[in-house]
Amino acid sequence: MNVLGIETSCDETGVAVYHTERGLLGHLLHSQVELHAEYGGVVPEIASRDHLKRLLPLIRRVLADAGLERPDAIAHTAGPGLVGALMVGGGMAAGLGMAWDIPVVPVHHMEGHLLAPLLEDEPPEYPFLALLVSGGHSMLIDVQGLGEYELLGTTLDDAVGEAFDKTAKLLGLGYPGGPALAALAEEGDETAFDFPRPMLGKPGYDFSFSGLKTAVMLEVRRAEADGDIDARRADLAASFQRAAVDSLVKRALKAASDRGLDRIVVAGGVGANRLLRADIARRFDGRVYYPRLQFCTDNGAMIAVAGALRLAEAGPVDAIRATARWSLEDLSAPAGQ
Ligand code: KG4
Ligand code: ZN
Repeated sequence: MNVLGIETSCDETGVAVYHTERGLLGHLLHSQVELHAEYGGVVPEIASRDHLKRLLPLIRRVLADAGLERPDAIAHTAGPGLVGALMVGGGMAAGLGMAWDIPVVPVHHMEGHLLAPLLEDEPPEYPFLALLVSGGHSMLIDVQGLGEYELLGTTLDDAVGEAFDKTAKLLGLGYPGGPALAALAEEGDETAFDFPRPMLGKPGYDFSFSGLKTAVMLEVRRAEADGDIDARRADLAASFQRAAVDSLVKRALKAASDRGLDRIVVAGGVGANRLLRADIARRFDGRVYYPRLQFCTDNGAMIAVAGALRLAEAGPVDAIRATARWSLEDLSAPAGQ
């Protein structure tokens, strides 16, 4: 069965075709980053309009590249995300589903991120601990099976990707700042500043990143006042990245150990961070799984694979959804599990 995946929750238009036995047949992505750069963040209205412009041509191309006239099912991101952007993908999926008389499956965006490592040659088996880290979320989840998700910890303030982006902005690195900050950090000394690791030492698995961001801001102001910000920028980036990664890794290792889980999946945009990937692999006794770099950030392939699994287990769903806020824990396991 060929499943067309559609992702339009934020600022990337992603489409893919996933075959339930042969795997991924193709995927395409159009990033809106340049459109939003001048505003320093995603402008929802602009995002919706651009999805509308890009989506159909991308769908045509990904199907043609895979040698298909039509898929056998469509999976689309139904939330969480920007509601106007989600409605573009959901409306398109519903219309095509009706025209082609094929099932349409709404997919939870974070379930897509969580299942993205299943696109790789050696996918993780259940159960595993998922560290889901993106621009909108920082979560630790005990995953016992499809839809069996127990949220162990989340962020009390900023998501870690958001902290990367805001810190990058403070350092004058533009938008989106995560990858730019990570690149600059490679040239810096991560021990130059001793930034706080909020929440470490406290019980539970929650994260907090706003105190770290504020600590960086104070140092940036000081360096600016001293006139040596240019010389300190890379050290600030490296020390921030070290503190943020430490918080994530320590919390994840503790959760895995407490829960007796010997597999960790790292996914979401910040999962592309090289220091995070290297650190967790080095410090964890069990096995770590990641999606390939391009499937860490938003993409259609993760939606196609999640939709294919949902469809196989639970069948089609007779509803069009576009939900801005939607907890991963509200997803149920398919009937019979
Ligand atoms: O998953 P994603 O594409 O979108 C959301 O669902 O939020 O994640 C985007 C986030 C942004 O905050 C971006 O700055 C961050 O992931 N990011 C990174 C890196 N690549 C992307 N953060 C740190 N290091 C990276 N290499
Ligand atoms: Zn995402």
